[in-house]
Amino acid sequence: MYRPDLHQQMVQEIESTGIKPSEALPFYTRLASNLADIDALYKTLYGDPGSRHFSQLVRILAAAYKNRPRFLLEKDDAKAASGQWFLSNRLAGMSLYVDRFCGHLQQLPSKLDYFTDLGINLLHLMPLFQSPPGESDGGYAVSDYRQVDPRFGTLEDLQQVVQELNRKHMYLMLDIVLNHTSHRHEWAEKARAGDPAYQDFYYFYPDRQLPDQFEQSMPEIFPESAPGNFTYVPELNKWVMTVFHQYQWDLNFSYAPVLLATLENIFFYANLGVDILRIDAPAFIWKQPGTTSQNLPQAHMILQLIKLCVQVATPGMALLGEAIVGPRQIMEYFGRGRYAGYECDLAYNATHMALQWDALATGDTRVMLAAQHEILQKPLGTSWITYTRGHDDIGLGYDDAMIAQAGFAPYEHRRFLKEYYAGVYPASVATGALFSVNPKTQDARISGSLASLCGLEKAIKEEDAGAIDLAVRRILLMQAHCFFLGGIPMTFYGDEAGYTNDYSYLTDPGKHYDNRWMHRPVIDWEKNKRVKEGEGPHHLIYKGMQRLLALRSQLDVIADTNNLRWLHMHSKAIAAYLRSGSKEGLCALFNFSNEPVEVAFNLFDLYGFKSNTLYDHWQQNLVEANQEGMLNFQPYQFYLLRVQGEEG
Ligand code: GLC
Repeated sequence: MYRPDLHQQMVQEIESTGIKPSEALPFYTRLASNLADIDALYKTLYGDPGSRHFSQLVRILAAAYKNRPRFLLEKDDAKAASGQWFLSNRLAGMSLYVDRFCGHLQQLPSKLDYFTDLGINLLHLMPLFQSPPGESDGGYAVSDYRQVDPRFGTLEDLQQVVQELNRKHMYLMLDIVLNHTSHRHEWAEKARAGDPAYQDFYYFYPDRQLPDQFEQSMPEIFPESAPGNFTYVPELNKWVMTVFHQYQWDLNFSYAPVLLATLENIFFYANLGVDILRIDAPAFIWKQPGTTSQNLPQAHMILQLIKLCVQVATPGMALLGEAIVGPRQIMEYFGRGRYAGYECDLAYNATHMALQWDALATGDTRVMLAAQHEILQKPLGTSWITYTRGHDDIGLGYDDAMIAQAGFAPYEHRRFLKEYYAGVYPASVATGALFSVNPKTQDARISGSLASLCGLEKAIKEEDAGAIDLAVRRILLMQAHCFFLGGIPMTFYGDEAGYTNDYSYLTDPGKHYDNRWMHRPVIDWEKNKRVKEGEGPHHLIYKGMQRLLALRSQLDVIADTNNLRWLHMHSKAIAAYLRSGSKEGLCALFNFSNEPVEVAFNLFDLYGFKSNTLYDHWQQNLVEANQEGMLNFQPYQFYLLRVQGEEG
């Protein structure tokens, strides 16, 4: 819809920033074509479209474009020319804490070869901006969005890293922590000092009436370490909303200046050179009594508004919504209706991540498969972050119906999984721990490194060579399964070298209450050198991951074009999917159990693949049936088979 009034307003605001439309044609075109939608969303959220705040929003967009450095404008053009760059099979990421990985931002450039050798070209640097020591939540309690925390270095150091990444054609992902600030952020300090404009930035209440009303329907995120969703602020004799820790104050996005200030911070990151912006905890950004205050429609409108603004001013930056929600709710983050495909470009496939762990513990893939019809609803042009674990806990938040469909009782099944990964189930190989046990509901999530949860820690302790071998197989199975599924694989630092749990957090007063630190290792570079060059289980894990990543980057059929189909297997231990392409496809089969399994070889004929030409990319040989016409799987074995394409 063309709106002359908006056009007029747009021209005025742009001119006021000194940009001449004739010199910024792409920006001008993008803004003109999106302004009516931006206006409509803004009006629904904040009322009066002609308000002073809306003009400010247009000025923020113009300033963001004006401040975009030349190298990023060029990168925007290159990305636009390559289509949706983030769907490519040539992208693979790693998430890491700079201090725990290499000490300091200044050391990071010297580690870039380590990533490229492994096959990683996208770095997710865990939060780097200022956060108070001891009250930091791993950097997710930001006290200054623009100052790099001195623990990691300076803004100049970060800019240097960006230059080096660009030189090596690598990509950068950073977080915007927008649901809350640290209680030591300037806005919070001003609010605490009594400034009413800044008190409006947060949810303050003079008594417990509304907080109590909220509490009736709001779940607790950290029931052990931070019970309840409100914290008393003695200086003001008021309660403030704190959904996460007491030191993380929730921002009030129903107040337009909060959105505007957030947009300015988003563009600050965009113009630093962020390729993927991880929007932390977007499910929580709108609150309403009588609801869970999660996944509300207004939260989606804010994300859609952010997406439109980014598309106008800094279009090369993709948005990742860190919504760790159930399989149905997650689809909403890709946008619904006319916004389908126009909200977040990427989301974590958290359901699948957890379901892989489910399949590994039970040796039964049925719950995982029961969830796939939901996961496959993803709109074309959007993609997943696929992962086996990250810096957070592993939640078991998939639907009860999916567990029931596989024939298990949901409560008992989850109890089994928790006991299995906490290592208390008698036959468990895992060494992990329960995180955030809710004494009221018995809900809990799981902490522990990939290697420890897969049995390596226990096997090494028991010096059991057979168990070590099985642990390595489990690790590679988990990685392979998520690398080829579709989406950007996001590995977690240390996993490539088989790091087991690190228990030193227990003696750190700023960390001991949060056992997620057990799977956030401090890298020992002498050890990593040995792992890369030496032998033994850690070396096998490294080499295996390296080979899987190399393979992935060579197989264009792995680019995420929504070309995934699950194949029906007669063994519940086997998960199999097909990535189909016009010339060549990939049929990936995984044995999630610790038993040898066989499947009938003629299944390949049934699916129309020429079974005499099945080449396994992984073992680099042709695959053949045994005398009984079966394909054998050793425990945790997988095949990555080349099959002819649709034109073949
Ligand atoms: C996200 C982060 C998590 C953090 C939380 C609060 O879920 O991944 O580590 O505790 O947000 O910011």
